[in-house]
Amino acid sequence: MQGRDLLSIADLTPEELRRIVDLAAEMKRNGYPRLLAGKTLALLFEKASLRTNVSFNVAMQQLGGQAIYLGQGEVGLGQRESVADVARVLSRYVDGIAARTYAQQTLVDLATYAGVPIINALSDEEHPCQAVADLLTVYERKGHFHVLTLAFIGDGNNVATSLAQAAAMVGMNFIIASPEGYDLSDETLAHARQSAAKSGAQISTIRSPQEAVKQADVVDTDVWISMGQEDSSDARLKAFAGYQVNSELLSQARRDFILMHDLPAHRGEEIVDEVIEGPQSVVFDQAENRLHAQRAILALLLADS
Ligand code: NVA
Repeated sequence: MQGRDLLSIADLTPEELRRIVDLAAEMKRNGYPRLLAGKTLALLFEKASLRTNVSFNVAMQQLGGQAIYLGQGEVGLGQRESVADVARVLSRYVDGIAARTYAQQTLVDLATYAGVPIINALSDEEHPCQAVADLLTVYERKGHFHVLTLAFIGDGNNVATSLAQAAAMVGMNFIIASPEGYDLSDETLAHARQSAAKSGAQISTIRSPQEAVKQADVVDTDVWISMGQEDSSDARLKAFAGYQVNSELLSQARRDFILMHDLPAHRGEEIVDEVIEGPQSVVFDQAENRLHAQRAILALLLADS
C-alpha cells in the first residue's frame, strides 16, 4: 500500500482493509517503531476538526515524524491558489497530505497533481479513516465481524457511506434506517452489495429505526446536519424527527449491543445524554481508536518499505 492514496474505502481490497485494522490493533497492543522518522504530513483542512487533526498529528509524532496544520484561512485551497498548484507545491515539501474538503472531487484533483499520497480526512461523501476506527472498535468489543449486525440510524452521509462499504468488505451486516431523501446513494449501495456478496454480509435499507435496531449488535449514528449543510438545518430537523437514538429506541436492540457515534454529537438531536453517557456507549474508545487507525494508515502508506 506504500505510496497509495486513500480517498475512499472502495480504494482498498477487503484484505487491505483488514490489514489496516489488524495493524492498528497490533500497534495499539504492542507499540510501534519510529517508522516515519524525518517524514512530514500536511493537514490541509477546509473544515473544522478535533479528532482527525489531533490524531493525525499525534500519530505522526509517535512514528517519529511531524505534521503541519494548514487551515483554509492560510491556504485558500481553490481560491487563493488552485488545487493543482497547492498539490504540486506541497509535494515538494512533505511526504503525504491528509485533506479535509467539502467536495470529494477536490481530493481527486489533489491526488491527480500531488506526487505524494493523499488521505481523505473527511469529505462530503466519505470518511474512510473513521470507518477504520469504527471497525477496530467493533472488533475489540465483539472479537469478530461475521454475523454481527450494525444498525446505522439517521443520515446516509459521509460517515454512513464509508462504514457501509467497510462493513460489507469485512462481512458485517449493515442496515441503515433513514428518512426518505436522506438515503445512501444508489452507487454506494450497489458497491457495498457487490462486496457483501463476496463476504457474506447483508446490506439493507429501511425507513423504521425500530425495525433496524432489532437484532442490532452495534447501533451507530451521526449528526443530522453535517458541516456545510447548515442552510438546510430546518428541513433536516423536520425530516429526522423520529430518528433520535434514545432509550426507547435502544430497548429494541439486543441486550449486549454497543452504541457508537463518531462525534461531535448534537445532543438532543440525533442522540441524547442518557444513552451516550450510558454503559453501552463506546464513543470515547471509538474516538481513541482514531489515533490507532491513523497510525496504521500512515505506517502503511508513508513508511519506506
Ligand atoms: N457527518 C459529519 C461528521 C463529522 C466528523 C460531518 O461531515 O460534519
